[in-house]
Amino acid sequence: MKALVINGPNINMLGIREPGIYGEDSYQDLVTRCKQAGAELGFNEIECFQSNHEGAIIDKIQEAYGVFDGIVINPAAYTHTSVGILDALKAVNIPAVEVHISAVEEREEFRQVSYARLACFATITGEGLAGYRHALELLAEHLAATH
Ligand code: DQA
Repeated sequence: MKALVINGPNINMLGIREPGIYGEDSYQDLVTRCKQAGAELGFNEIECFQSNHEGAIIDKIQEAYGVFDGIVINPAAYTHTSVGILDALKAVNIPAVEVHISAVEEREEFRQVSYARLACFATITGEGLAGYRHALELLAEHLAATH
């Protein structure tokens, strides 16, 4: 069981960017948490990928085809704008969970739309970095039920 954790723009700035919203842990802390949670949940591999570029995220989703069993994705700002990321997730048809560190539903109007959500079987918001572990748990359960 192999999972790909994708993070979009500005997630590399965790710990620096708006700590009142996104917390004080760094992106490297997030990677460590995901790898640890993945090992505990029985994944053989967790790859973490972060990019500030929409096309690079789309390329990575396409490259996941036939390689990864599941995806955890926080498209960050592209959540609210990117039909391209939605279409890539639909194209590869890999089970995916959407994660947001903050409670997007309690924030600005422009954060209320999520395109990526339409290709994800679950969404987690407002749990901070722990939300990624939760997403990997849901993914492990989903893969166990469908494989
Ligand atoms: C975010 C929420 C988005 O609205 C925002 O643009 C981000 C991070 C979150 O994890 O809470 O960059 O996806």
